[in-house]
Amino acid sequence: MQFDLFSERPKQYPTLDALIAEMMKMEDDPLFPAGTNMVICRGNPKAKLMIVGEAPGTEEDRQGKPFVGRSGQLLDQILAAVKFDSDKDVFITNSVFRLPPGDNGKPLRKPTDDEIEFYKPYLLEIIRLIDPVIMLLTGNVATQSLLGKVGITKLRGEWYEWNGRWAMPIFHPAYLLRNPSRQPGSPKALTWRDIQEVRRKYDELIP
Ligand code: URA
Ligand code: URA
Repeated sequence: MQFDLFSERPKQYPTLDALIAEMMKMEDDPLFPAGTNMVICRGNPKAKLMIVGEAPGTEEDRQGKPFVGRSGQLLDQILAAVKFDSDKDVFITNSVFRLPPGDNGKPLRKPTDDEIEFYKPYLLEIIRLIDPVIMLLTGNVATQSLLGKVGITKLRGEWYEWNGRWAMPIFHPAYLLRNPSRQPGSPKALTWRDIQEVRRKYDELIP
C-alpha cells in the first residue's frame, strides 16, 4: 500500500488515549504490511522524564509495550541506578511504532529514513500530550528523528534545547549490551556519567 509522507498527520488529539486508539487502527503506515503490532508506550503519562527509543523488537512486538526485552531490562537498571522507577518516574516511547521486518534470527534491521519520517508526527503528538521536561534520546534513530542529526558518539551526553524542553542523546541500551566493557571511556562508563547528569538536571528543574 502507498503511504503519503507529506499528508498532514496526525491532527491534534484531546488525550493520549484518543491518540493511541487512532494509532491502533492505523492500516496505511509503511510497516503495516509487515504484519507486526503497534507498540506505543509504557510508564507514567504524568512523568516529566521521557525516554524515546528506536523501534520495537520481537519481545516488544509480542507484549505490545516498548523496552520489555533485554534492552528494556538494561534501560530499567540504568534508570534505577539513579533512583528513577521506570513505572512511576518515566514515560517510555519509540520513534517507530512497529517492528521492522527481517528479524528472523537476524539482527533487527534499523528503520529507514522514510519510516522514521512517517511516524515522527505521532511521536511529536505524544510529546505534546505528555509534556515532558526532559527527554532522553536513545541511539541514532531517536536522535535523528527529533534533533535531525546523526552521530551518537559525538552527540551523546550533551543537553540540547528542543522546543522548550531539554533533550539528551544517550547510547542505546542494545549498543551497551554489545559493548559490555566498563573501562574508562567505554560506552557503559560514558552512559553512567550521562545518567548521573540526567539525575542532576532533573533535580534542578523538577521540584
Ligand atoms: N529498542 C528500542 O529502541 N525500543 C524498544 O521498544 C525495544 C528495543
Ligand atoms: N548506533 C546507535 O544507533 N545507537 C548507539 O547507541 C550506538 C550506535
